[in-house]
Amino acid sequence: MSRIRINIFAKARRMIFSAAWGIVLLSVACNNSESIPATVTFTEHVAPILYTNCSICHRPGGSAHFSLVTYEEARKNAGASAYVTKERIMPPWPADPHYTSFKGERILSERDIKILEKWAEEGAPQGPVDKTPALPHYPNGSETGTPDMRIAVQPYFLKANSSDRFLLVKVPFELPRDTFASLIEYVPGKSNIVHHVNGDMIFYEFEKKTNVFAGERALDMQQDTSKLLEAFQRLDLPNDDGTYPVMQKSVVNYLPGALGQKYPDGIGGYKLPRKGVFLLNDLHYGFTNKEDITDSSYINIFFSKTPPERPLQEFQLGTLSSFGNAPVLPDLIIQPNTVKPVYSKYTVPEDISILTINPHMHLLGKSFKAYALKPNGDTIRLISIPRWDFNWQYFYTFKKMVKIPKGSTIVAEGVYDNTKQNLNNPFSPPRLVRDNNGSMKATDEMFQFIVSYLPYREGDENTSLDVK
Ligand code: HEC
Repeated sequence: MSRIRINIFAKARRMIFSAAWGIVLLSVACNNSESIPATVTFTEHVAPILYTNCSICHRPGGSAHFSLVTYEEARKNAGASAYVTKERIMPPWPADPHYTSFKGERILSERDIKILEKWAEEGAPQGPVDKTPALPHYPNGSETGTPDMRIAVQPYFLKANSSDRFLLVKVPFELPRDTFASLIEYVPGKSNIVHHVNGDMIFYEFEKKTNVFAGERALDMQQDTSKLLEAFQRLDLPNDDGTYPVMQKSVVNYLPGALGQKYPDGIGGYKLPRKGVFLLNDLHYGFTNKEDITDSSYINIFFSKTPPERPLQEFQLGTLSSFGNAPVLPDLIIQPNTVKPVYSKYTVPEDISILTINPHMHLLGKSFKAYALKPNGDTIRLISIPRWDFNWQYFYTFKKMVKIPKGSTIVAEGVYDNTKQNLNNPFSPPRLVRDNNGSMKATDEMFQFIVSYLPYREGDENTSLDVK
């Protein structure tokens, strides 16, 4: 992350220095663009764009390290904001909206981008103060309402100036009885330092585990999954007799600006055991600045009286594929100074409805694309990420379910850039990088496409998933 940030900064600075040039060019370019106001001001034109598209993260207590709420804050960052929006680095949304669109996508219109650019180039004037729009109400904690239960994640201490951490964290819980949940949310304590979370849920059979609260709570794995079994022992995850309980994947996921996945009533949802553990596989803390920080994150649970009518199912292509028969082809071995395409494919044995997809690669990722080929040869588009961004690996939920007919082949294609032109290359000079038994270490690679689906039912393709 720090490397990436430095890059953006350097580019942003160049942008600011070239602002003088811009004014000359822009005064020519804007003459024939009617929809852009003659004078762009903060209060009248810029604040509405920032409040709708940026301040959810760029505000006090938001996930970005600086705020874009007040005039002063926006003015100071005007050049950088114009640059990152024009380059479509911000708001962060790596998927190409022209290929497929998703629920909650963060996309600026061309007009908004031009307004931010013009504003920066004309010296970022404030405009009439009484025209300042009201700041939207941003939820603090849950985005959905008042949760029925809140489980604390054991607070974690980070020293000043520490680098990225990748933790494996155990969050045990006990309930009076087996029950159901419609939504499980991870809420970061210090959202400017919690980068992302990907968590599973472990189900204990009540008699098989005496104490779910025993064992260590957080291990710093540095994304090295080769010691995973040993780590499971230290967290005391096995049953009393040493066997392993059942685990449900991807139950609690978090990325800045995106808490849990909420689906319409009756779809998705979870069964909760009396004794269970949320296992946060990859609680990624970014680097800290000059202060020590203690993060106290927590997990919200919204109970549901009824069992999930249509519980989500999941399969995975690529590294550690669910069926073992959707491997990465050719092998994910990326020679230094090469750009390497790979793919993985899987033919679905029944009609399914896809709800949410999650493409996954590490630092050498360059682009990602997935689609389904129907038996009649037609293509169903799923996602295209022309410029892979390690930092923004969303769980993308479609606006409506996507029907994939039986016999269709889902194809995921990735391209890796192991040259020095890839600014995120962890090695300089480039070295051979490969997948390593599913190692999540950022310096090993992975290629995965995770699909959440339901067995198809008549009318699914018309069911909106765009619920608040
Ligand atoms: C989903 C959260 C989110 C949204 C929405 C968002 N940003 Fe960001 N932005 C971030 C994060 C995180 C960073 C990385 C900075 C950091 O390290 O904290 C960032 C970085 C930036 C930077 C680069 C500064 C640097 O440190 O490199 C600028 C400029 C910026 N954002 C402007 C915007 C603008 C303008 C918008 C709206 C059009 C926007 N952002 C929307 C989260 C967001």
